[in-house]
Amino acid sequence: MRGGIPLYGELCVQGSKNAALPILAASLLHRGISVIHNCPRILDVENTVQILQEAGCLVKWQGSSLMIFAENIQNTRISSKYGTQMRSSVIFLGSLLGRKGNAILPLPGGCTIGKRPIDLHLDSLKRMGARIEEEKEVLYADTEKMKGAKISLRFPSVGATENIILAAVLAKGTTWIQNAAREPEIMELCRFLKEKGAKIKGEGTSVIVIEGVRQLRDSEFFLMSDRIVAGTYLMAAMSAGGEISLKRAPVSQMTAQLQVLEAMGAQMKMEKNKICLKAPKKICRLVSVATHPYPGFPTDLQSQLLAVLCKARGRSKIVETIFEGRYQIVPELRKMGAKIKIVAQEAWIEGVEELTGTTVRACELRGGAALIVAGLGASGVTTIENACFIQRGYEDIGRDLRNLGAAIETS
Ligand code: UD1
Repeated sequence: MRGGIPLYGELCVQGSKNAALPILAASLLHRGISVIHNCPRILDVENTVQILQEAGCLVKWQGSSLMIFAENIQNTRISSKYGTQMRSSVIFLGSLLGRKGNAILPLPGGCTIGKRPIDLHLDSLKRMGARIEEEKEVLYADTEKMKGAKISLRFPSVGATENIILAAVLAKGTTWIQNAAREPEIMELCRFLKEKGAKIKGEGTSVIVIEGVRQLRDSEFFLMSDRIVAGTYLMAAMSAGGEISLKRAPVSQMTAQLQVLEAMGAQMKMEKNKICLKAPKKICRLVSVATHPYPGFPTDLQSQLLAVLCKARGRSKIVETIFEGRYQIVPELRKMGAKIKIVAQEAWIEGVEELTGTTVRACELRGGAALIVAGLGASGVTTIENACFIQRGYEDIGRDLRNLGAAIETS
C-alpha cells in the first residue's frame, strides 16, 4: 500500500460481525428456517456456517442473504478444525445445550488479545443446570433440561451474556441476568430471537429477563451494520486525510467514537444513517481516552485510534481496560517511526510529523486493520504480512479503500 493519498468518496457499511455470529448460533435453536439478510461475507461467518453444517443444518447463501434450515441437528460436537478458529465458537455451548441438551466443544480460539477466560460463561450455564467438564482442551457439557436462574455477572461480558440468553430462550422457567452487557450486538441478538417468538425484556439495559418458551418460529431478519467497520473507515480517513461519507452507518451506536473523532479535529455531518467526515489538516491530541464496555469507547477500535494518534500534534494517552493484549501492534507502529511508550495498560503516544512505510506484521484482526490505517497515512510503501487476519472481520477492506482512492493491493 502506498500512503499519503487522501481518501474521497462514499462507502456502504457491511453487516455487523459481532451481531451475525451469535445470531447464527441462535438459528440453531429453531427447528425450521431462519433467513438473515445483510450478513457479512467474512471469514468468521464462513467458519460459523461450517459449524452449523457440521451440526446438521442446511445453509445456503444468496448474495448477502443466508438461509439456515435447522430441522435436524444430529451432531452436537464441534470439531477443532472450526471451533478453534475463533473465540465466539463458545456461544454454541448455550445454543446446543438449549436445543439438544448436550455439547462438545474444543476450547475456543480467536484473537490473541489477552487471556480471555470463559469462566463467566461456564459458571452461568452451570447455574442453569448444565454439567460441564474440561478434559484435554475439550469441553463436555450436558443437561436434562436447561432451567431459568438468577445470574449476576462479575463483569458485563458480551459473550457470557449472549451464551446465557441462548441457553435461556428454550429453558424451563425464567432467567435474570444482572450486570448484563449492553452492547448493541446483544440488542440485535434479542431482536432476532424475539422475532422468532422468544420472550425477552430489558435488552440494552443491565438487567435482562428471559422467559423460556417451548419453541420458536420461522423468520426473516435484516442485520444491522457494523459499528467497528464504520469506525475503522473513519479512522482511515483521519490518517490519510480527505473527506468520506459512510452510508448505512449505525450512527446512534457510535456516539463515543464520534466524540473522539470530533475531539481530534474531524468535521462531521450526521444524518439518520449517514456520516460525512472531513479530516483536519493536523490531528489534535487526546489528553486521555479509555476503552470501556458500551456505551464507552470500544476496545475493538482502540488500535485504529492508536494508529491515528501517532501523527497527532503533541502527546496523547490511551488506557485499555478490557483486553490486556491489545498493544501487540505497538512494535509494528514503532517500525514505522511511531513514538509510543507502554506503561501497564496505558499507551503514551508522542505525535510525530510523519510515519514511514515499511514491512509490518499483523497478529490479530483489529490490530491488522490498524496497520492499514497507519499505512494509509505513512509516506512510501507499507507491506502488511499475515493480513489474512483482517478478513476475519472485513469483507474486502482493499476494495473499499480503493473505491475511496487509496493505492492498496491485496493478495
Ligand atoms: C466480544 C467481541 C469483541 C469485543 C469484546 C468487548 C464478539 C464475537 N467479540 O468479545 O470483538 O472486543 O466483546 O467488547 O462479539 N472475561 C472474563 N471471563 C469470561 C468472559 C470474559 O474474565 O468468562 C473478561 C475478558 O477477559 C475481558 C472482558 O471480560 O477482559 C470482556 O470480555 P467479553 O465482553 O466477554 O468479550 P468477548 O465476548 O470475548
